[in-house]
Amino acid sequence: VAPGNPGMVGLERTSVAPEQIEADLYVIGPEAPLVDGIADRLRAKGGLVFGPGADGARIEGSKAWMKALLADAGVPTAAYGSFDDYQQAAAFLRSLPGPWVVKTDGLAAGKGVLVAHELDEALADLRAKLDGVSFGQAGRRVVIEEGLSGPELSIMAICDGQRAVALAGAQDFKRVGAGDTGPNTGGMGAYSPVPVAPPAVVDEVMERAVLPTLSELRRRGIDYRGVLYAGIMLTPDGPKIIEFNCRFGDPETQVILPRWESDVTELLAAAAAGRLDSVPAPVFGVGAAVTVVLAAPGYPEEPQTGARIQGLGAARSQPGVHVYAAGVALAPDGEGLVTAGGRVLSVTGLGCDLGEARHAAYAAAGRIDWPGLVMRPDIALAASGTGHPISSARLTPTPSSTSTEEEMRA
Ligand SMILES: Nc1ncnc2c1ncn2[C@@H]1O[C@H](COP(=O)(O)OP(=O)(O)O)[C@@H](O)[C@H]1O
Ligand SMILES: [Mg+2]
Repeated sequence: VAPGNPGMVGLERTSVAPEQIEADLYVIGPEAPLVDGIADRLRAKGGLVFGPGADGARIEGSKAWMKALLADAGVPTAAYGSFDDYQQAAAFLRSLPGPWVVKTDGLAAGKGVLVAHELDEALADLRAKLDGVSFGQAGRRVVIEEGLSGPELSIMAICDGQRAVALAGAQDFKRVGAGDTGPNTGGMGAYSPVPVAPPAVVDEVMERAVLPTLSELRRRGIDYRGVLYAGIMLTPDGPKIIEFNCRFGDPETQVILPRWESDVTELLAAAAAGRLDSVPAPVFGVGAAVTVVLAAPGYPEEPQTGARIQGLGAARSQPGVHVYAAGVALAPDGEGLVTAGGRVLSVTGLGCDLGEARHAAYAAAGRIDWPGLVMRPDIALAASGTGHPISSARLTPTPSSTSTEEEMRA
């Protein structure tokens, strides 16, 4: 892992630049290096790379570009306009009935979208974005959309340039506060499977959104090999695409990886080689996973960092639990870890249904502490109460927690 972070266990880390490393397969994690063209540089050296080049990564790097691509592909999505001029943008906003949606065109770590129920709030946000005050260059162009409503769903598709295969669906929680209140974040928790998205919905999303998008990319000469992450809203008029990301999204991936039972590396290598037809479709366990994000106080506006993390070992030793580390650093005195970012840890619990997985996640998360720790209490609450529990008799007898640890190491 280059560079990874000191909270990762069972993985070898290096500070050497990826371009200097010899590897059989490169899997690029985050969006910024993809947008910056790291996959192109590795491919130019002959590397087998899972992740789109800079041309394909624009699907996440520019929402205006993505919306135009979807329009050309005929993919259902919110009506929109894209602007760099305040007067034109304000006139378009005023013409919409609300709620009003104002998005930065460029990357904003999941914080660049305002969904406002007051026009004045949307206009003030628009001004701050276009002036470069709130998001710098990323906000100097905006996408304004009609407000949609309905449950959200994330479907990640593994693409090899012409074929695509869906992973298990997941749902994340974007708002910082319980009951979906407060500002948007990079994600405060997630769960999988999603009871409102049975296989027929996943198939519909693949046929009406993911495959047409992949075809349109090809038509434009873009050989897209990597994840097409579809952010979807299940509106009364059917599924609509909210956005595409160019990589494994978090926190959704933290509930999908532990459920992934077939060979992950084999699938990614086949996609990177343009040969998805040469491997079997991915298989997911019948159980459920729930992840709860532990954030620093002040997140997302002004996270306060540098606090010592207590109880990480105790949480990690719980059965059926994975703790993923994000914003962490080694403590200055060398004793354990301190918080070093907005979203610090993500605690995933596994179970035979969402209720059990939720219980495991919160029990382990409750062992972890630092001053002012923020976590939502209601991740997967509604879904675990109203969903369809899976009977434990259908659970695979294999010890899932150890096999997933091995998968993570692989
Ligand atoms: N047109 C829309 N109508 C209603 N809500 C929206 C709309 N677009 C985005 N949202 C909300 O804002 C969140 C973030 O928007 P998204 O386009 O996914 O940006 P990003 O993930 O880059 O911050 C979505 O998950 C959704 O909750
Ligand atoms: Mg999103």
